[in-house]
This record gives sequence, C-alpha cells and structure tokens, in this order.
Amino acid sequence: MSEHETRIVSTRSENENEAADVTLRPKTLSEYIGQKAVTENLKVFIEAAKSRGDALDHVLFYGPPGLGKTTLAGIIANELGVDLRITSGPAIERAGDLAALLTNLNEGDVLFIDEIHRLHRTAEEILYSAMEDYEIDMIIGKGPSAKSYRIPLARFTLIGATTRAGSLSAPLRDRFGIISKFDMYTPEELAEIIRRSASILDVPIEADSLMEMASRSRGTPRVANRLLKRVRDFSQVKGTGRIDMQITEQTLESLGIDKRGLEGLDRDILGLIINRFGGGPVGIDTIAAAIGEERVTIEDVYEPYLMQAGFLHRTQKGRVVSEEAYRHLGLAAPAGGPVQLSFTDTDTDSE
Ligand code: ADE
Repeated sequence: MSEHETRIVSTRSENENEAADVTLRPKTLSEYIGQKAVTENLKVFIEAAKSRGDALDHVLFYGPPGLGKTTLAGIIANELGVDLRITSGPAIERAGDLAALLTNLNEGDVLFIDEIHRLHRTAEEILYSAMEDYEIDMIIGKGPSAKSYRIPLARFTLIGATTRAGSLSAPLRDRFGIISKFDMYTPEELAEIIRRSASILDVPIEADSLMEMASRSRGTPRVANRLLKRVRDFSQVKGTGRIDMQITEQTLESLGIDKRGLEGLDRDILGLIINRFGGGPVGIDTIAAAIGEERVTIEDVYEPYLMQAGFLHRTQKGRVVSEEAYRHLGLAAPAGGPVQLSFTDTDTDSE
C-alpha cells in the first residue's frame, strides 16, 4: 500500500472500512445527497428506459475521486432493478477478461468500470462493438488457423468512471450517451451526509460538530465519512460517546487536519512552491519529484481540492499559489503579492 492510501485524503476504500462503507451507501436516488445536476437528469433517463423496457444508454461519470461515482452506479442498477458488476480499468489485464465479463451479463445489467481511462488498448477495442452493437469479435487461435467469432451480448449498460475525462480516447468517449460531471460538495451537503451517516451508525452528534467536520472534508463524502468514523472512535475512547466540538477538534488535531481540511502533504506542496519557487509558477513534474509522489496522484488527489479551496492555480506556465495560501500557512506574501494571475487558469497545462 503506498503511503497516500493510508491518509484520510486517500481516495481508495480501505478494507477496514469497506463493510461499513457499504452500509453507509445510499441505495436509492432519493437518499442520495447533492450532485443534483447529475441525479435529476438520470432520474428521467432511468424512468424513460424502464418504461420502454430498454437498457439505459451508456453512462460516463467524471470528476475527482471520492465524490460518489461508484455509489451512484449502484443506485442506477438498483433503480433499474438489474444486477451490477463492478471492475476497474487496471484490473482487466487481457481482452479475454473483459470478454468473459461481457458475455456473462444478462439483459439490462449494469457493468461498472472504474478508472476506465486506464483500460488496456486491446480491452478498449472490444468495448467499441460491445457498446455500439452489443456484440464482440473474438479471434481464437494463432496464425493461418486463427478464426474470428462473433459473440452476441445481452443489451447492457456500461457505466464508466474516470478522474480524467480528457484521458479517454475519442472513440470511447463518443460511445457514451450520457456524460456527467461530478462536482465537489458544499459544506451544507456534506453536513447532511454526515448527519445521515451518524444516524445509521447510531452516534449522537451536535450541530456545530457536523458543520466543523463538513468544512474540513475537502468537498468529498468519502473523506467526510472517514472523519466521522475517526471522531466516533475518539469520542468512544476519550469522550462520552456523544460527538461534540471538543472531541471533534481533538480528533482533527490528532489527525493533522487543519481548519480548511488540509493535511501534511497538501501543506508540503504549498510550502514547497512558496519556499523553493517563490510562489510559482513551477512545473508539476518538479513538484512531484521534490515531494516524492507520483505526478498523477498530485494531479488527481491533491490538486482538485487545493484549487477548489483557492490555494493553488494551474496556469500554462505551471502551478502558482494564491495569496490566501500564504495567509493560511501563516507566511507573509512577497511584496507586490504572489505572481500575478492575469492569464486564465487552465486544466490542460502542456508540460
Ligand atoms: N455517501 C456517500 N456519498 C453520498 C451521497 N452523495 N449522499 C448520501 N450519502 C452518501
């Protein structure tokens, strides 16, 4: 397990939490909090597909990790009354693995492929005809005796999830009929999610603690639910079993999570840009090498929240910290302020 996976920020489900996460997951659209732009349209598409007796069109979810893409895929299958199969791009090693999954689907079933941008090329090519014509061509054997077989599939729905829609090839992206972007949650939505989770876990929690946890959860339900579980642990062992501000603050402090939800590595990134590069601009590969994290981890896990919170900007020349980042770290901004951001932010820096 890499180091980042053990942090609260971590985007992966820890085995430790897997079972509990499942019970915290909403099962129906009406229980799902936030992402209204996504869920209100989906409600219509699900109802339409059901009334036609047809499979739902293929769906692509994109956005930062931990925002509930897998949860919503489960809800879609549940609302459609079909089975859900879950896999991920990197887990499919050979085209045959995907063919086996596809041929085992029943009419209307949902196949969820997480991290679909990491699908191997050969597997991706099988998906084209599977998605478009509900059939796959398999070549069995080698050399002159090789034979091509056309295998029909049940009409199914593919739900793909990715943190980077831009990394998907055009032919794959074009085959999704529904493309939905997930946004970070507001503190109010997160407070609602924590309230719901606390009630399922049967822990009493005070209103100010709800808001405190919500505003330190990086706009991410997965982080919010993890914080709740850790505060519950502290309140059980060192408190009264009831979650109040005192135990909430004590837990967050012990976990090294500051007022805005930043953890050690977030502060390392901002501190590095400030102390070694005068606030930026600095290239992402330079940051990755200095911090000792992979570039994609910084881009997909750490930067989305740092940008959303207004601490960091991506520009064509590299990463630049904001004046607010200096203030947050208790540092004086350089005279004349940090580098002027007269050029527009861009997500597609071309380094
Ligand atoms: N748990 C995780 N994400 C959620 C959401 N969007 N609504 C309710 N509970 C959740």
